[in-house]
Amino acid sequence: MCGIIGYVGTDEVVPVLLDGLRRLEYRGYDSAGIAVMEADGIGILRAAGKLRNLQQRAYHEPLHGTVGIGHTRWATHGAPTEANAHPQTDSAGAVAVVHNGILENYSSLRRELLAAGVELESDTDTELIAQLLGREDGPLSERVLKVVSRLEGQYAVVAVHHEEPDVVVAFRKGPPLVVGVGDGETLVASDVTALLHRTRRVIYLLNGDVAVIRRDGVRILDADGGELERPEETLDWDAGRVEKGGYRHFMLKEIFEQPDAIRNTVLAYLDQERCGVNLDGLGFAPEDFSKLRRVHLVACGTSWHACLVGKFVIEELTGLPTEVDYASEYRYRAPLIGEDVLVVGVTQSGETADTLAAMELARDGGAMLTTVCNVRGSSSWRLATSRMLTQAGPEIGVASTKAFTTQLVAMVLIALALRAAHGRADETDCELVGELQRLPLAVEQVLAVDRELYRRGTEMLGDATDSLYLGRGILYPIALEGALKLKEISYLHAEGYPAGEMKHGPIALLEEDFPVVAVALNGPTREKLLGNLMEARARGAAVMAVAEEDAEEVHQVADLVLPVPRVHPLLQPVVAVVPLQLLAYNVAVELGHDVDQPRNLAKSVTVE
Ligand code: G6P
Repeated sequence: MCGIIGYVGTDEVVPVLLDGLRRLEYRGYDSAGIAVMEADGIGILRAAGKLRNLQQRAYHEPLHGTVGIGHTRWATHGAPTEANAHPQTDSAGAVAVVHNGILENYSSLRRELLAAGVELESDTDTELIAQLLGREDGPLSERVLKVVSRLEGQYAVVAVHHEEPDVVVAFRKGPPLVVGVGDGETLVASDVTALLHRTRRVIYLLNGDVAVIRRDGVRILDADGGELERPEETLDWDAGRVEKGGYRHFMLKEIFEQPDAIRNTVLAYLDQERCGVNLDGLGFAPEDFSKLRRVHLVACGTSWHACLVGKFVIEELTGLPTEVDYASEYRYRAPLIGEDVLVVGVTQSGETADTLAAMELARDGGAMLTTVCNVRGSSSWRLATSRMLTQAGPEIGVASTKAFTTQLVAMVLIALALRAAHGRADETDCELVGELQRLPLAVEQVLAVDRELYRRGTEMLGDATDSLYLGRGILYPIALEGALKLKEISYLHAEGYPAGEMKHGPIALLEEDFPVVAVALNGPTREKLLGNLMEARARGAAVMAVAEEDAEEVHQVADLVLPVPRVHPLLQPVVAVVPLQLLAYNVAVELGHDVDQPRNLAKSVTVE
């Protein structure tokens, strides 16, 4: 969603804001803007479209000051025009505000302000916040305390007032905000990636916090103006990890980082001596685990695909019935939750609004709540009582890759821990643990495959407007994920299906220009899948398959095989998804699309 940055320091603020926005652009990017506390009031620049448009304006119309706020917008209320871009101001231009989220009482507040004679200049809910702040009296923090009780919905807001040129005030309910504590400078942002190049000392704001930010630090107030203590933490991510490092795109870099991401995740939790999982310090108590009788996995998007794989893994290793839900569905149905249920919120960002709401529902229902998350200190991290950190490092490309493969590994680790707690561990665990340790090498082999095969695969998919991805068993979620990757960044229509369902509908679509991509690794249902592929070929469809290099029977059916090494059956999803990531990437590049910032998508979806 939208990206927010605020700065109070001694450097010229425009480069600081633009640099922060560049690092946040992946969150949402249909327009951008900055507000700078200049000697004679608040200077504002806004531009529709990509950040470069704002950068150009900033070059031609320079603003000067050492305090300011900035925003990249992902439109909710109002089209992505300059008038609707943030910062938004009150009518007098005394207050400027940037905002992430949605005000649910937008219509009633708007009616009220119009009735009071306020002339609104945008269609945004954000302008309403600026107008409300402008109509109060006193210091900005006091105005915020008065206005905040009138706002319904989800918001992370950063505001400035021209009478207090050295203060930025930030407040939140829902979308995240984090304060960066520097040397003689203090920052605030929606995401730590915007702060890392200036400081690694951070304070996460909690819902309801009002932060008054000055050069020498931050005061945090509660709703009554009382002072709050929030712990300062030091991040272990370094700034270099949010740069492209010589790769053409973040997505490609992140695909190639997967061996390390997987290695780090495995190493963080593996107890080699016991052939099991070491969960010390993570809040998982084996005795709590042994009480559990059922598992619910909740997530959105790619993380939901990791859950679908998780169901196969957890049920096979533990025998515990496992349900998988879209978080946006779970939160509005009446799931059967209780103390014997482990609910796992799986989320790369830890900020997805639907996943957080589903987790809250689980917590209120008395379930044991855990999260598999890639961002330490995020909202899901705080909400859960136990947590597993995927060690993928910052993921910037909107299409998730390394976060997904580490989530798949996390599913195996959680299943191994549950299995041990239920007294089911045996010598086969050692075999799986050994395979987990070898997994990064297997992924390296996939990444080393001859580019010529991908060129041919790109031709097959890039020349078609539709394609069907098929898989069976534990690999059917990988077919869904492969299709999603292609859709997200190439804008070509692709459907993922369990292969056995093909004849119940999708087969009607198949013809010559409608290729089929099969995830056809060795396993009990491969023969059945090959039968499905023969049916597809009989309709003229070209067939591409991901399979082991020596799988003769697949080579006989497929026009093209993308090879992967042989691995443990429960780890096949990890090696199988990598060729599909590379394929989607190559098709999108070939079609000339913006791979890291696909249209209409956002990395972190902090509204419903
Ligand atoms: C967005 C992203 C997806 C991601 C999904 C869930 O739609 O574009 O890549 O899978 O959100 O995000 P989460 O951070 O909860 O894993």
